[in-house]
Amino acid sequence: MKILVIGDVTSPAGVEHLSRELWKFRGENGIDFCVVNGENASFVTGISPELAEVLSRAGADCITGGNHTMRNKRIYGYLDEREDIVRPLNFGDASPGKGYTILDARGYRVLVMNAMGNVHIDPTLDSPFSAIDEALKDAEGKYDLSILDIHAEATGEKLAVGYCYDGKINVIFGTHTHVRTDDKKILPHGTGYISDVGMCGESGGILGMDAECVVKRMKSHLPHPFVAADGKCVANGVIFEYDITSKRVTKITSVDF
Ligand SMILES: [Fe+2]
Repeated sequence: MKILVIGDVTSPAGVEHLSRELWKFRGENGIDFCVVNGENASFVTGISPELAEVLSRAGADCITGGNHTMRNKRIYGYLDEREDIVRPLNFGDASPGKGYTILDARGYRVLVMNAMGNVHIDPTLDSPFSAIDEALKDAEGKYDLSILDIHAEATGEKLAVGYCYDGKINVIFGTHTHVRTDDKKILPHGTGYISDVGMCGESGGILGMDAECVVKRMKSHLPHPFVAADGKCVANGVIFEYDITSKRVTKITSVDF
């Protein structure tokens, strides 16, 4: 089973890029299931239902979320209605949508979970560990393989989640920092892990933003409006090859397209 995960889509141009390229890439690489982090596909204003719909049609079997997910109120109903989009588990039951879903891939039941970290991102949220434990308990016996998007700032926290759930969750990938890390690895009990997948959007600036505007904001501490970066759109992704019999990830490959 080949699972492709794609890092944070940073703008509508990133969505358009996936519309053009993702099905082609899936076909050429024999991808069975694809997860895309789309929390901020509308560019600093979360994700709209329209862009979520485009991402689904583009070949995202599941869209995951993060700290920006709830910025656009119009997504709330969509989160409730659709099975193929999740927001962080630790937003809690009062939040729209759900933190995990179970979808089909070639006849296998795939559990996709999304959780947010606490360290340097949102210490007010419930612990991701408790939220993940609860989801695993709730979904027990209902899935054949499992995937977690841990949307967090600190690599230490993401690695702690990786080692904590090694052998219990099959694929664990980090999102949020927009820069792909070089630490992909198969953990001792067979879980495929990477601290951050990267991003999908204009590649010319700082994390999808225009470099000059980010530098101005940082130097002046004034709220200069964000502007999208220029440059060619690129999707950073990782392919996890999972062996359903041994329940182990056997290979992890970084890809850009
Ligand atoms: Fe984020």
